[in-house]
Amino acid sequence: MSYTNLLLATENGTTTITINRPKKLNALNKETIQELHEAFKNADKDPNTKVIIVTGSGEKAFVAGADISEFASFSVENGGKLAAEGQALLFDFVAHLSTPVIAAINGFALGGGLELAMACHFRMASTNAKMGLPEVSLGVIPGYGGTQRLPQLVGKGRAMEMIMTAGMIDANQALDYGLVNHVVALEELLPLCQKIASKIQRNSSVAISKAIKAINANYKEGVNGFETEIKQFGDCFGTNDFKEGTTAFLEKRKANFPGS
Ligand code: COA
Repeated sequence: MSYTNLLLATENGTTTITINRPKKLNALNKETIQELHEAFKNADKDPNTKVIIVTGSGEKAFVAGADISEFASFSVENGGKLAAEGQALLFDFVAHLSTPVIAAINGFALGGGLELAMACHFRMASTNAKMGLPEVSLGVIPGYGGTQRLPQLVGKGRAMEMIMTAGMIDANQALDYGLVNHVVALEELLPLCQKIASKIQRNSSVAISKAIKAINANYKEGVNGFETEIKQFGDCFGTNDFKEGTTAFLEKRKANFPGS
């Protein structure tokens, strides 16, 4: 499948999705959100894809936000619909994908850009990265999960300050806040993400998808994460990956997981 606003490459079990609107700092217009939905869905279904990396093209931006030109004239109803559709198609969709998703933040990650990075399972940043939720400076609030995921990741007080000031933090502050896991030079960002992706690939993809479900359960209202963990743990015992993993350990050899 070919995309207008994305570049895709699959190599060594990792699919890299590059958002490619550099002249607009990779801002998320409607078409790009729809294309990202398709690309994530296809990569998740692809048996050759064990890990997904998402990044932005160019050296300036991961994603500079939702495309402001598209929603500037929206009504109350359109605004609500924009957030609901975006969350369902992209942000919640990515957060609940069974394939691990790493955000490689290679520059500005603002508004919907930071919300996309926060929906990913974890984040890495280059030293030039800048992150923020500037929506209140435009008279709106974050609508793609930012008011929920930022406090989960950095704590309520820091999230309140970031959202109220509409300010940006640099990569080192994001590292200090726990918003990103590692900070490296721009040219080292994708190689480091690929190195981590290859470590992930050595493990059982079935167990990883169950771990994602159990971890996400902690953030769902009305769901007991411990109970989800018990259920997912038990289910592992019926998988071929579990048989292979334990057998390989006892036979003192490397596991070769079938992924089922
Ligand atoms: N939506 C639509 N277009 C955007 C955009 C966005 N979120 N962010 C950047 N662009 C466009 C600019 O309009 C400009 O387009 P033009 O060349 O056709 O005028 C182009 O991308 C380059 O951006 P520019 O502002 O000239 O770059 P800069 O280096 O001076 O500033 C930023 C970079 C990121 C500080 C600035 O672009 C910005 O503040 N963007 C909006 C961030 C934001 O509020 N995001 C949240 C949206 S809810």
